[in-house]
Amino acid sequence: MLSEPYRIKVVEPIKMTTREQRKAILAKAGYNMFMVKAEDIYIDLLTDSGTNAMSQNQWAGMMQGDESYAGCRNFYHLSDTVNALFGFEYFVPTHQGRPSENILFQLTLKEGDYVPNNMHFDSTRAHVIDKGGIPVDLVINEAYNPDLYHPFKGNMDPDKLKQFIKEKGKEHIPLIMITITNNTGGGQPVSMANIREIKSIADAHKIPLFFDAARFAENAWFIKEREEGYKNRSVKEIVFEMMGYADGFTMSCKKDGLVNMGGLLAVRDKNLYERAKQLLILMEGFPTYGGLSGRDLEALSIGLNEVVQEEYLSWRVGQVKYLGDKLLEQGIPLSRPVGGHAVYIDIKRFFPHLGQDLFPDNAFATALYLESGIRVAALGSTAFAYRDENSGKMVYPELEFVRLTIPRRVYTNSHMDFVICNIAELYRKRDQISGLRVIYDPPVLRHFTARFEPVNMES
Ligand code: F0G
Repeated sequence: MLSEPYRIKVVEPIKMTTREQRKAILAKAGYNMFMVKAEDIYIDLLTDSGTNAMSQNQWAGMMQGDESYAGCRNFYHLSDTVNALFGFEYFVPTHQGRPSENILFQLTLKEGDYVPNNMHFDSTRAHVIDKGGIPVDLVINEAYNPDLYHPFKGNMDPDKLKQFIKEKGKEHIPLIMITITNNTGGGQPVSMANIREIKSIADAHKIPLFFDAARFAENAWFIKEREEGYKNRSVKEIVFEMMGYADGFTMSCKKDGLVNMGGLLAVRDKNLYERAKQLLILMEGFPTYGGLSGRDLEALSIGLNEVVQEEYLSWRVGQVKYLGDKLLEQGIPLSRPVGGHAVYIDIKRFFPHLGQDLFPDNAFATALYLESGIRVAALGSTAFAYRDENSGKMVYPELEFVRLTIPRRVYTNSHMDFVICNIAELYRKRDQISGLRVIYDPPVLRHFTARFEPVNMES
C-alpha cells in the first residue's frame, strides 16, 4: 500500500460546473476539448506536460534566480546536475522539447535523410519532416497490439534497424533516436538490454545514438522494476548507465524535469555543441540561459534531482497503475501494460458500434466531459485521420486511443476514484453514445481547432 510521499501546503481551488453548464460550454467550444477554457475543467488529464506541481525546494530555488544576462549562477547549478545525473558536459538549455529538436535536426539532417526511432512523438516527427528528413518508426511489433502484455513494449526492433541500415545505407542515416518512454506507443519503457543492443548496432555503423528523453526517470523506474539484474541498482545508477549509451539527447523538461517550462539539448561532440550554441543564440538566447530565466533554470536543476528519488517514482508510477488496474477491474479495454505517465483506453473496443468516421475518440472525450467535467486527450481519428491527396479518401489511424494523462504530484487518488467511477458509468451507457461529425475541418492539425457536432443532437 502506497500513499503520497508529500503533503499539500498550497491548494488551488477547482471549479465545479453543472451538466447544463457543461452542455453549453461544449456547444460553444465546437465539441473540441482544446477549445474549452481550463477553468471550466474539474480534473484535467489532457497532458502531463508542463502541468507538474513544484516542491517547496523548487519554489525556494526560484527566489535564488540570478537574472544576469550572461553567466548566471543557476546555469552552473544546472550544469552540475546535468553532469552528475547524465554524465554530459556539453548542453544548452531551451524553453521546451521542440526547440531542442529543431536545433538538433537543423544541424544534422539534409534533404532525404532518414531518422529511425522506436516511435516519433508528433513534434519530433514534424521537425524531421520540416528539415527534409524522413521519420521512420521501428518499434517492436508487439507495440501495435494494445491487449498484449510485454514488459518493454517501447523497445526498438534490432532486426528491423539492421535491415533498414542495410537497405538505405548508413550515409543517409545521420542519427538513430530512441524515445524513452515511448509516449506515442502508450508511455511504454525501453529496456537497458535493448538500448545496449541498439547502441552496438549504431556503433558498428558509426551512427550516433540520441535519446528523446522527456520521461527518462519513469523509464529508469521500469528498468528497476522489470529488468533482470536491476532490482538492487538505484534509479540514479540506472539513469547514469542509460544515458551513458547516448551520444546526445533532447529533453522536454516539462515532464520528468518536474517544472512547467524548460528543455535541454545535450551532446558529446564538441563541434556539434559549438554549432548548437550558435543556433541557440539565434533562436532562444545566450547559452547560459537559452529560452529560460535564471529562476526557471534553478527550478529545473532541483526538479531533475527530485525526479530520480525512488519514493517519488514508486508513488508516481504506482498512481498511474492504480488508475489502470481499477479501470481494468471495471472491464474497460486498455492498452496493456499501463505506461509510466498515462492510461490509454482502447476506443475501438470501448465503442465497437462507432466507426472511425464518427470520431469515437472525441465522442468519448466530450461525453465524459459532459457527465463529469473531466478532460482527456483524444488521440485517434480526431488527431491523426487525414484525407489522402491522391485518392481523396480518408485514412484512419490503426490505433484509436484516448489518453488519461496524469500530471505529476497534482491529483490525489480520490481524484482518480472519481475518474474511474465516471468512466465506468460511461462504459455502462456506451450504446447511447452516437459519435460526432466535423463541421469545420482546418487543413492541418485538426484536433487543435476543428469544430464538431453530435450526430444525434439530443445527447
Ligand atoms: N518528445 C516527447 C516524447 C513528448 O512527449 C513531447 C511532448 C515532446 C518531445 C515535445 O516536447 O512539448 O516540450 O516541446 N509531449 C506532450 C504530450 C506535448 O502531451 O505528450 P515539448
